[in-house]
Amino acid sequence: MKRFYLTTAIDYANGSPHLGHAYEKILADAIVRARRLEGVSCHFLTGLDEHGQKVQETAERLGRDPQLLCDGMAKEFQAMCQRMGVAYDDYIRTTEPRHREVVKDILRQLNRKGEIYKAVYGGLYSVRAERFVQEKDRIDGRWPEDFGEVIELEEENYFFRLSNYQDWLVDFLQKNSNFIFPAHRQRQVLEFLKEPLNDLCISRPKSRLHWGIEMPFDGDYVTYVWFDALINYISAVGYGTENFSNFWPADVHVIGKDILSPAHAVYWPIMLHALDLPLPRCLLAHGWWLAKGGAKMSKSEGNAVHPMDYADIYGSDAFRYFVLREMNVGQDSNFSHDLFVARYRADLANDLGNLLSRLVSMVDRYCGGTVPAPALDGDLEKELKSFAESTVAHVRERCGAYDFAGALERIFSLVQAANRYLECREPWKLAKGGPEEQKMLRDCLGSGVECLRIGAELLFPAMPAAVEKMLAQLGVERAGDWRVLAWGKSTAGKKIGKRTILFPPVEEEEDALPPLSA
Ligand code: ME8
Ligand code: MG
Repeated sequence: MKRFYLTTAIDYANGSPHLGHAYEKILADAIVRARRLEGVSCHFLTGLDEHGQKVQETAERLGRDPQLLCDGMAKEFQAMCQRMGVAYDDYIRTTEPRHREVVKDILRQLNRKGEIYKAVYGGLYSVRAERFVQEKDRIDGRWPEDFGEVIELEEENYFFRLSNYQDWLVDFLQKNSNFIFPAHRQRQVLEFLKEPLNDLCISRPKSRLHWGIEMPFDGDYVTYVWFDALINYISAVGYGTENFSNFWPADVHVIGKDILSPAHAVYWPIMLHALDLPLPRCLLAHGWWLAKGGAKMSKSEGNAVHPMDYADIYGSDAFRYFVLREMNVGQDSNFSHDLFVARYRADLANDLGNLLSRLVSMVDRYCGGTVPAPALDGDLEKELKSFAESTVAHVRERCGAYDFAGALERIFSLVQAANRYLECREPWKLAKGGPEEQKMLRDCLGSGVECLRIGAELLFPAMPAAVEKMLAQLGVERAGDWRVLAWGKSTAGKKIGKRTILFPPVEEEEDALPPLSA
């Protein structure tokens, strides 16, 4: 049976994970969790990009064996995922035999088909982007920042006949206008394809670069790192075996906008087409987290926020909440410490944290710890129920459109509505009244708990660990299926759990805060 197959970019093994890497994996994780809540069976792949010049140079600089460097980095990236609650199903490393063998097999196939040729090429070469570039790549006369140093280079190499497929690709993109999300990026790729494509140089002489997968038909060369890395998406799911069709085509490749074009939007579709394989269904290109001053946060700039520091102080779910709430998928976003703290306090500690602790302590005090049934006699209760149910529909729709910011905004409107409802009903006053007030009190607490239960189920893709804790305090198990999530009596009669503070106040000690630049 074909699964929903989601991949992320595989991170370069030349530096430690930062906010950008953490965000992408969290976004991917949230997409997969939301799909699973729709009853879809999923496969979530992420991994590490271990070959190429950057890794070789970093290893040389540190005086370390590149494989040992990569082994250490793999541990670090995996620990980051673990810490952030990113529950991938598989982690591919491009130095693994299962990957190397597929890369070689593909090179042999393409070579046999005449898709590869050897030629001398001289030109301008970007060291950081690890590819030949052209004068037309200059922006306002200058090389883009992510090209790093651009040098003159002439050497004999192997080339893949990319240019043969230009017309096919343009035609494909015109016919499949939802291939790239957001849509304006697809128009940019089409714009880029108005210029003639050059064939792709897919080898590097070993004299210059030894850290790569050897070309199977010429031992003097290794494979270009992008040609190697892209193949991870198929090598990890058993390309060449029967199992492969349970996964491929991928449903979505989650990547950053910097690696959309040409790598994912041009090289990869053409590689697949040349291999007679179907294309992935969607490329989702997210924007960048920017540091203060608007620069892209990156290893090379040394201005990265360290997600682990935030997770250690505020908890991983608070971090996940912030990045998913703050970033509109596809656009750039500034990471601001002040905004982080403001959201932590207002949304999590105050709105959500208070709702939970009020409800749990009142059920404990007034109902002997047993959650009453939600009742629908009153107008306010009917209103709350109907808002909760329309929120379910809205959040399902938003998550399906990758709009987690919109989904979270709506869930927090529901949380606020529940808080307002309690303030209107004033259960603490009802508790002092006679039998009629006692009934109203039970209706009120039952309705409040039911509303929070629904909110918690909806928050699961963003804050999985906190949701489990919230539901445990409400005494219910997570239903885990949005298709049947409706106002009901699932909390009634349940015994509340032990009350704990989910989002404790964090002291504002300036020097205890993580640095914004490392
Ligand atoms: O590009 N904000 O690896 P990488 C948001 N190995 N996302 C960011 C970011 C930022 N400030 N900085 C990086 C590579 N990213 C290749 C990918 S895929 C076959 C090979 C994102 O470690 C970036 O856009 O430089 C990319 O999607 C991912 O992190 C890994 O970046
Ligand atoms: Mg990068």
